[in-house]
Amino acid sequence: MIDLHCHLLPGVDDGPSEIEESVALCRQAAADGCEVMVATPHQRHPYWWNGDRQLLAEKLAAVQERLGERPRLFLGGEIHLDSIEVLDEIQALPQGSLSSLAGSRYLLLELSYPEGYGPNPEEVVHELLVSGWKPIIAHPEMYPWLAEDDELLVRLVERGALMQVTAMNVSGLFDRRPQRVAGRLLDAGLVHFVASDAHNLSTRPPGLSAAFRALRAGWGEEKAYALTTANPTAVIENRPLPGESSFR
Ligand SMILES: [Fe+2]
Repeated sequence: MIDLHCHLLPGVDDGPSEIEESVALCRQAAADGCEVMVATPHQRHPYWWNGDRQLLAEKLAAVQERLGERPRLFLGGEIHLDSIEVLDEIQALPQGSLSSLAGSRYLLLELSYPEGYGPNPEEVVHELLVSGWKPIIAHPEMYPWLAEDDELLVRLVERGALMQVTAMNVSGLFDRRPQRVAGRLLDAGLVHFVASDAHNLSTRPPGLSAAFRALRAGWGEEKAYALTTANPTAVIENRPLPGESSFR
């Protein structure tokens, strides 16, 4: 399995504070069946701006050196859509401060929790798609204003947005409300990835196997494999998702 959303770098956000915690988090993920993890530190977040990509890459290399070969780590970012300026920063890639997922055309985007704050997500998705980017919306089930707006969720996916649901919301280890939304999204075929969004070893741990089992039980083995392995593999290999002929 491949984990596309994980706060594993030490001392950069609300993930691990020390490298020892980072190494332990990655080892637990590997023991749970993750072969590849993409480090996605918060970026453009009011508390964790993380605009020095070189520093993030150095921290990633240090964790990888401590781990050895497994799990394989890549750099990414959870890019907060704080303002329309974020589009300029994205267009500057691979220069500038932001990170796509493993250097691919796929971007992990965090929306704002208060409704109406930040740019209109439909406009951002449209602008990114016409520029050849593949926007992935992180945990749509966690934003109250989006989670209950089925029409907007469908419109975003129809426009070309991809959706990443949090593993604990699939396996039922988190709150009941986002779990119910995650189930509805899965029933509607609106989910493209399941990832851990791990932050630590206690309250928000790594690992995808419990979610895989819940997916298999509820939506079948093929769907479980697609969301935890086949689709994330396409991301880190920078190619269209299985079943898609080309990037739009
Ligand atoms: Fe996150």
